[in-house]
Amino acid sequence: MSNQVLLAGVIGDPIAHSKSPALHGHWLRRYGIEGYYVPLHVTHENLPKVLKTLPKMGFKGVNVTIPHKEQALSLADSVTDRAALIGAANTLTYTSSGTMQADNTDGVGFIANIRQAVPDWVAGTGPAMVLGAGGASRAILSALLSEGAPRVILANRTRARAEALREKLGARVELLDWHRIADALSEVHTVVNTTSLGMTGSQPLHIDLSRVRPGTVAADLVYTPLMTDFLLNAEAAGCRVVDGLGMLLHQAAPGFERWFGKRPVVDEELRQAVLAS
Ligand code: ATR
Repeated sequence: MSNQVLLAGVIGDPIAHSKSPALHGHWLRRYGIEGYYVPLHVTHENLPKVLKTLPKMGFKGVNVTIPHKEQALSLADSVTDRAALIGAANTLTYTSSGTMQADNTDGVGFIANIRQAVPDWVAGTGPAMVLGAGGASRAILSALLSEGAPRVILANRTRARAEALREKLGARVELLDWHRIADALSEVHTVVNTTSLGMTGSQPLHIDLSRVRPGTVAADLVYTPLMTDFLLNAEAAGCRVVDGLGMLLHQAAPGFERWFGKRPVVDEELRQAVLAS
């Protein structure tokens, strides 16, 4: 038995609002692991120095969040294929020799969350639609494509950003004008909001859902509030809805397993602990 205390954390700027310490703290207590997961406020200019120093202090790894996800990827010694495809890292792990591996678990967290909420969901059943082409969108698009979605229809207010994503992710991404969303909804089996619309303090996402197929899976990445206007309207239109909190919980699991040596479970008890934090 080693008497080393296991250390991990989350780096961001700002960081005080992060739910990750409550989430990992819950798992550490539940599994009786002697370890700590701490919030680390680090500015852009200090990130390279901090990432080099953390393994010397005993850190097994860290999550990185806004605004460091792209810079962290460029600073890593090795990068997983999915992080390279997404162009950003959210999970960094130090090897025993002190090198830093960058991964991105946002896409797999998103897929695991849909599977838990809608067990019979299969990406290959039909086309999906993704709303938004910002940082979060790329992880969702690449996850849907690698899960076998035959086509992903991408709608973004600013078309140039959607074009840039299509160039990176290939021909199965089809661009759609923002004002044509309502018509195209009749074609899709999954629709995902990756925009910031609907978040407490922003405008709601209001789209005409009258043509959506009953049973379509509607997912939102926004989790404050848990039930956004988009999800409430989608539910009323006969969709199966998936809120954004589950993705946050699921994207954390691979890092926890790597750093603390236990595959954690995402369940209602964890959800409630994080909601109460
Ligand atoms: P993130 O990294 O969280 O995805 P982001 O990169 O700022 O954040 O992207 C925010 C997304 O929300 C973008 O797709 C943005 O659309 P634009 O590319 O046109 O800016 C979208 N968004 C924000 N406000 C919006 C609005 N009022 N109407 C439509 N889309 C909006």
